[in-house]
Amino acid sequence: MSLHTQPLEFSEPKLTDTKPVTSSTDMEPKIYENNTPNEIPEIYYKHISFKDTLPLRRTVFTKAPRIQYPFDAEGIHIGAFLKSPATPNSSNPNKPNDNDSPTHTPIAVISLFHEDISEFETLVPLSNNNDRHCIRIRKFACHPTFQNKGIGTRLFEYAMSVARNEMDGTMLWCQAVPPSNIWYAKRGFEALSGLLYTGAGIEFIIMKRELS
Ligand SMILES: CC(C)(COP(=O)(O)OP(=O)(O)OC[C@H]1O[C@@H](n2cnc3c(N)ncnc32)[C@H](O)[C@@H]1OP(=O)(O)O)[C@@H](O)C(=O)NCCC(=O)NCCS
Repeated sequence: MSLHTQPLEFSEPKLTDTKPVTSSTDMEPKIYENNTPNEIPEIYYKHISFKDTLPLRRTVFTKAPRIQYPFDAEGIHIGAFLKSPATPNSSNPNKPNDNDSPTHTPIAVISLFHEDISEFETLVPLSNNNDRHCIRIRKFACHPTFQNKGIGTRLFEYAMSVARNEMDGTMLWCQAVPPSNIWYAKRGFEALSGLLYTGAGIEFIIMKRELS
């Protein structure tokens, strides 16, 4: 797996493309306002090809300049899938049928890449540079119908174990587009600096967390 240090998805952020994160209105969690907490659907996770992430990416990232990332084929992509509603078992109504099969369209996806954060560290150098293995999260998305039900959190936790155990990662980072920075902050991420970057017309915050 090769390392890519260029943020290819957005035009390269420069210091002149930044401003301090000061506005609290940027931070309001607008994405959840149409959803109410509901019962937790039964889901499972599996590795998928990047092509299987594209339909959901298209649904969720309607304003993104690009849905596909040039090095997508080199990443690890994980989907969360809904188990099909169980139909009654004729011999035992309390058990699902043996032939109940899970559905095969992911309701949430996350993509992980070996990708260094060092380009942004000219602002705030991190310690242990030589020992760390940076894993970048890209295109984390949950279908709008299924948001705010805890699915993103569970997929993220699963992805953390993949980043740690399969990718040998020691830290996670991402470009969080507000208001998703609030979601990440609640899951242990901190902003690399107090700057809001702009690339390809999209504002984002660089966020990171250690993988222990
Ligand atoms: C960011 C995103 C992937 C999160 O997915 P999600 O499934 O909605 O996330 P969750 O449901 O786990 O978390 C949302 C909230 O629902 C709450 N929640 C509601 N019902 C829940 C349940 N039954 N169990 C657990 N948490 C529940 C969580 O506590 C959480 O609130 P909190 O953040 O205040 O703790 C999703 O909102 C999304 O696709 N956003 C648009 C794309 C985007 O911004 N992606 C990030 C790229 S930068």
